Amino acid sequence: MPKYKIALLDGDGIGPEIMAEAVKVLDLVAERNDLEFELVHGSFGASAYFEHGHAFPDATKALCDEADAILKGPIGLSHEESKKIPIDMQPERGALLPLRRRYNTFANIRPVFLPKELAHFSPLKPEIIGDGIDFIIIRELVGGLYFGKKETGINADGKRYVSEALEYDEDQIANIAKVAFETAQKRKKVLHNIHKSNVLKSSVLWNEVMSEVGANYPDVQVVPILVDAAATYLCLNPGQFDVMVMENMFGDILSDQCGGILGSLGLMPSACLGPEKAYYEPSHGSAPDIAGQRIANPYSMIGSVAMMLEMSFNMEKEARNVWQAMQSVFGQGFSTPDLSKPGKNVKMISTDGFGDLVVEELAKL
Ligand code: NAD
Ligand code: IPM
Ligand code: MN
Repeated sequence: MPKYKIALLDGDGIGPEIMAEAVKVLDLVAERNDLEFELVHGSFGASAYFEHGHAFPDATKALCDEADAILKGPIGLSHEESKKIPIDMQPERGALLPLRRRYNTFANIRPVFLPKELAHFSPLKPEIIGDGIDFIIIRELVGGLYFGKKETGINADGKRYVSEALEYDEDQIANIAKVAFETAQKRKKVLHNIHKSNVLKSSVLWNEVMSEVGANYPDVQVVPILVDAAATYLCLNPGQFDVMVMENMFGDILSDQCGGILGSLGLMPSACLGPEKAYYEPSHGSAPDIAGQRIANPYSMIGSVAMMLEMSFNMEKEARNVWQAMQSVFGQGFSTPDLSKPGKNVKMISTDGFGDLVVEELAKL
C-alpha cells in the first residue's frame, strides 16, 4: 500500500478549525484509494512561539524535511496581539518566510475560480462575471522586497531610517517565467505579465528575462500590464485574464484583491512549489476576527488539499473530485457566512458543516 507522510501545520487563529476539515477529506481519499496518508501535526506560528519559544521549532523543521508534502494553515496574530512577540520572531518573519526559504518554494500558484452558477458570491455584477471567473495568479515567492537586504538605523541627519531592497537575479526571474509559460501553454496560451517598469528597474530586468524565456514558447502570447492598471482591470474585466505572472509583493496584494473579487478570501487556496518540496496553504491569514466561532470557510484549505493531491501525488482525478464536491455543496444553496447574508434561499452552514457535506458529496463521486 503506498504511504505518504504529510506534515500538518495547523497554525493560528482559524488554522486548526479549517485544518480539521481538510483532514476529513484526506482520510476519505486515503481510504478509497488504498493508500495511507501518515498525518503528523507540527507546531508552527505564534502558537509554536508561545509553547516552544520559536515560531518554527527544530522538531517542526525535521518533520517538514522528512514529509512528502506539507499542508499549512494560516499563521499570525491580530495587530495588537502580535506586539507580544519580538519582531523577528513574529510568525510571518520567524516561521513563514523561513519555511519558504528552506524549501525554495519560488512558485506560488493561486487559482482564482468562481463558476457562473456561484456568481452571486461575488460583489461584481453578473454581466461583468459573464461565464464565470477562472484564472491563475503565479506569484514569485522567495525574492523581491520580502527577502532583500534590510537595514534600519539613524542616518547622518540623526533621523530614524529604513531601507529594504527589492532584489532579483536573472535566474530567479527565469525560473518563475518558465513555470508561467508552461502553465499558459497548458491553458489558453495567453500570459499577462504584471510589472512596473515605468518606475522600477527590477521590473525592467523582469521584463527582459520574460522576453528571453518567452522566445522558447512562441505559441504563448505575452500581454504586459502595469501593476496599478491591472488592479483596475481585475475588477472591470476579470474575464480577460487566464494566467498572470508577477513578482512577490505585487502577487501578495493582487491575489488578496482576487479574494475580494470572488467574494471571500475563504475561496483562495494555493500551492507553493520548490525544486524538491512543495507546501500548500490558503492564501489568506489566520482571521483573528472570526477565530473560534466555527464560521470560517474551509474551502481554501480543502482546495489546497486538492492542489496537493494533483501536484504532489499525481492524483488528478481525485483532485477534480474534491473541487467538484465543494462546488456541488455551494450549488445546493449552502453557504458559509463569509459568502452570503442570511436569506430564504441560503442554507447557512458552519465550518464543520461544510467539511461534512463536502465529504458526503465526495463519497458519491
Ligand atoms: P486575513 O486574511 O486573516 O483576514 C482578512 C479578512 O478575511 C478577515 O475579515 C477574515 O475574517 C476574512 N477571512 C480570511 N479567511 C477567511 C476564511 N477562510 N473564511 C472566512 N473569512 C475569512 O488577514 P488579516 O486580518 O490582515 O491578517 C491576520 C493575520 O494573518 C496577520 O497576522 C497576518 O500577518 C496573517 N497572515 C498569514 C498568512 C499566511 O499564513 N499565509 C496570510 C495572510 C495573512
Ligand atoms: C501571504 C501572506 C504572507 C505574504 C505573509 C503572512 C508573510 O500575506 O501568503 O499572502 O506576504 O506572503
Ligand atoms: Mn498575503
